[in-house]
Amino acid sequence: MQIKFSAEPTGDAIAYLAYEGDKGVEFAAALDKAAETTIRRAIAAGSFKGAAGQVIEILAPEWSDATRVLIVGVGRKTSVSEIGWQKAAASVVKRLLTSGAKALAIVGAPDRAIAANVGLGARLAAYRFDHYRTTLKPEKKPSLTSVSVVTDSAAGARSDYAPLAAKAEGVELARNLVSEPPNVLHPESYADRISELAELGLEIEVLDVAAMTKLGMGSLLGVGQGSVRGSRLCVLKWMGGKDKKAAPVAFVGKGVTFDTGGISLKPGPGMQDMKGDMGGSAAVVGAMVALAKRKAKANIVGLVGLVENMPDGNAQRPGDIVKSAAGKTIEIQNTDAEGRLVLCDVLWYAQKKYNPKAMVDLATLTGAIIISLGNEHAGVFSNSDDLVAKLTAAGKAEGEPVWRLPLGAGYDRQIDSEVADMRNIGNAGNAGSITAAQFLQRFIDDGRVWAHLDIAGTAWKPGNDNPLEPTWATGWGVRILDRLIADNYED
Ligand code: BES
Ligand code: MN
Ligand code: ZN
Repeated sequence: MQIKFSAEPTGDAIAYLAYEGDKGVEFAAALDKAAETTIRRAIAAGSFKGAAGQVIEILAPEWSDATRVLIVGVGRKTSVSEIGWQKAAASVVKRLLTSGAKALAIVGAPDRAIAANVGLGARLAAYRFDHYRTTLKPEKKPSLTSVSVVTDSAAGARSDYAPLAAKAEGVELARNLVSEPPNVLHPESYADRISELAELGLEIEVLDVAAMTKLGMGSLLGVGQGSVRGSRLCVLKWMGGKDKKAAPVAFVGKGVTFDTGGISLKPGPGMQDMKGDMGGSAAVVGAMVALAKRKAKANIVGLVGLVENMPDGNAQRPGDIVKSAAGKTIEIQNTDAEGRLVLCDVLWYAQKKYNPKAMVDLATLTGAIIISLGNEHAGVFSNSDDLVAKLTAAGKAEGEPVWRLPLGAGYDRQIDSEVADMRNIGNAGNAGSITAAQFLQRFIDDGRVWAHLDIAGTAWKPGNDNPLEPTWATGWGVRILDRLIADNYED
């Protein structure tokens, strides 16, 4: 989708943004003098109040150059957020995407910053993953190819839009990675795709099985040993800070390209969704792309552990004891609790190699987080109230909200083992998301500022009604990470 900013509304569809309440709706009606009567009648007929998400559409108005005119509610003037503007634009784009309309003009953004946000909403809503469709009926193909946001300060809006476009690219990449089928995206091909990102100015390092064996990453490697694909650990570095030697912020992502459960095999129905079990890594890779594209003035390191969890003659068994790179031993009691086994070695490497001033990991870690929070919030677990506050604010501003859950010694005792330093599961049906977080915390150095985001409920969503997101892969995490850096860690 081409996003433009211009002073004149041109296109075969024109959408007016209207505030909730009489003033805003009056304003929208008055914008098109020739159409005023028709628009007023449509507003009355459609009980249109301008509430966020409300849309009315007038087809083929003879009084207009456009073949359709739409009025879109943005909600009350005093309370419209950036996300509110993005969603308003997104609902029009969603509605028109395959309608036959080709060019849409959106009128009513009051300033350049809002115009830029309208552009971002339009772009995110236009996202589709059609790569593998060879026979899409013409009426199901997107017809809309350009959105022009009408504003008096087009040049200003264009420069405000540039960092938002970088963010959108990161989100789109994350969505693509999560949507890719697991025969195409596996640890080796994924590492190759990450390597290509060097062209953005990111420094890329790829550790293969031999390199990780040398480092003693028995926990991560144990998960991948049943796969014919070699496991990988990829590092993406963006050193955009003034002082290139200053401690970076680290992002760590779970990249299980397919999670069968291993020998503790998952049930068949729904298993195809486990191609998305690399959603945490996709968020990290997408965020690194966004940060590099907008040349963020901060040092950031992204690390992703890429493995495929398969049952096989060489797969690890329940009962196996593995040794992590940190030296701690782990009794595997369920091979399906594999995400934590991957992350613990990557978290160790991130701390040892980069001594980060703050570290955030993202993982589709537990089904239990969906029981707790559904698809609305990601769970956050942390040893730092300050980092939680920063993540909560960033998530709210970006429409990726998080909700804190506790950590504590009582939960931690659940993962003690009779035969090793710890086991990889807690008690069945008992605080599963928290015990997973406790496991990770055992690998966090004393004094290290750290947060863990469990995104099992947000990385993909069935029947998603958020107009900014497609159904299924959301790209969740790119936006909150980008904002976390922008608002807290840039020079
Ligand atoms: N990848 C899953 C978690 C998951 C479940 C993500 C549903 C998205 C949707 C993870 O590896 C897993 O299997 N966790 C187990 C842990 C259990 C064995 C302690 C779970 O949640 O059932
Ligand atoms: Mn699993
Ligand atoms: Zn998993």
